[in-house]
Amino acid sequence: MTMVPMNSAQVSRYGMVAITLHWVIAIGILMLIGMGLIMDHVSLDPMCVFQLYQLHKSIGITVLMLVCLRVGWRLTHAAPPLPDSMPVRERQMAHLAHLALYGLQVILPLSGWAMVSVSVLGIPTVLFGTVPWPDLPVLATLQNKGPVEAVLKGFHHWAAWTLAVLIILHVAAVLRHVFILRDSVSGRMLPWLASASRHKRWKN
Ligand code: HEM
Ligand code: HEM
Repeated sequence: MTMVPMNSAQVSRYGMVAITLHWVIAIGILMLIGMGLIMDHVSLDPMCVFQLYQLHKSIGITVLMLVCLRVGWRLTHAAPPLPDSMPVRERQMAHLAHLALYGLQVILPLSGWAMVSVSVLGIPTVLFGTVPWPDLPVLATLQNKGPVEAVLKGFHHWAAWTLAVLIILHVAAVLRHVFILRDSVSGRMLPWLASASRHKRWKN
């Protein structure tokens, strides 16, 4: 068996690290959006509300850390090339959509962190009930926090629902690749195909 190092032209799918980060972050974000819906629309007893907010903050900060890792990984590891059959306009749209998804994945948890840093209630963030998490330095010492908190709440709200819409479009695009175009794109982010194709790559 000859071992041939891969270059970006040979790689037709994402690697295991990119796939793992994509799915762990995706699950985290879907949970956070679900929690956001409950926080907004379900009346719970105050203790449950407190615990839900703490869990939301804990998962949100964890997502922020994983997204930083993911961005670093992506900047140092090229994405697999898209199929030649894909029209230029669609490639551009895909890149733009992925860029927007990355942007919101960074901005959204940052805005949440900023929001709790200026909270007039001043409730500390303790990740999963064990690790104290600091407020953002400058914001935590502001004199008049109320108006800044209101702006950040509005921003977090709109950024979250923009991300939700983008995720729906993203999933719709994937389903189009699965059921209409029937090309290789839909399988590029699936873990169980990754190991099989790595085996194939290293064999020839
Ligand atoms: C829930 C939040 C999600 C976010 C934030 C997200 C984000 C992203 C991003 C940024 C990329 C581009 C990766 C890169 O080139 O570096 C990507 C690719 C991909 N995602 Fe998602 N995703 C999410 C959910 C999903 C879901 C639910 C599916 C399955 C239906 C999915 C399937 C895919 C596939 C197949 C690709 C590869 C597309 C390609 O190769 O061009 N994603 N995702
Ligand atoms: C990708 C990460 C995140 C997502 C997808 C997300 C999503 C959401 C959603 C959908 C809501 C409900 C918004 C509304 O309808 O008004 C919400 C509210 C909230 N989020 Fe996040 N969030 C994230 C990260 C964070 C982080 C990191 C923190 C803090 C450390 C945070 C703190 C909060 C708080 C305090 C609220 C309640 C705001 C209010 O009282 O109006 N979030 N989030």
